[in-house]
Amino acid sequence: MGMIVAIDGPAGSGKSSTAKEVARKLNFTYVDTGAMYRAVTLATLRKNIDIENDKLITRLARKLDIRFRWIDNVHHTFLDNEDVSDAIRTSAVAAMVSPVSAIPGVRIVMAEQQRAMVKNDNIVMEGRDIGTNVFPDADFKFYIDADIHVRAKRRINDYRKIGQSLTIEEIVIELKKRDKIDSSRSHSPLQKAEDAITINTSNLSFQEQVDQIVSIIREKSD
Ligand code: DC
Repeated sequence: MGMIVAIDGPAGSGKSSTAKEVARKLNFTYVDTGAMYRAVTLATLRKNIDIENDKLITRLARKLDIRFRWIDNVHHTFLDNEDVSDAIRTSAVAAMVSPVSAIPGVRIVMAEQQRAMVKNDNIVMEGRDIGTNVFPDADFKFYIDADIHVRAKRRINDYRKIGQSLTIEEIVIELKKRDKIDSSRSHSPLQKAEDAITINTSNLSFQEQVDQIVSIIREKSD
């Protein structure tokens, strides 16, 4: 088994971009588990499945083929061979992803797939429950957090990139709603693992976040 680095934290904490860069620097495989829950949500919306229909959504999740691929240094998400990298980032998907990912069956299916992705590779896996549920024995666990207004500002840029203009206030509302559902669901809620190292990124530059994590990993694995 390779080395596993688990990076958890709320939306907009800087977790995704940091995890991606840490993986690049260490030459580890990067797995974005939020993209997997977003892909399930996109498929649920496209099929017009009622959000209350846990069974059908779980069955759908089991059938989906979700893969990642680097193309010209950009990380892409594929759903049944279709590039859905932009489609999974819309506010419509963001509004439904927390209820979909609160369905226990969906979480069981996703965690199984995440564990199967590891094989013998060194991995940086990023999400909400990686250090607590998917890999409780991960070699390294980080919990990344930031002030909600800093998080909203970061998200505004993400939305701009895909042509959606939302206000800070709208994003603060979206983030608060997701935080609440993600941290209070019964199955594997967003939670800092007891043995995770917390990094608050409110006042850190991107490079500082990356360097902190990379140096901790390098120091301990030498
Ligand atoms: O990291 P993100 O914003 O792309 O994640 C989208 C949603 O997916 C998040 O609000 C909750 C869910 N999620 C989860 O429940 N468990 C994970 N390991 C990753 C994401």
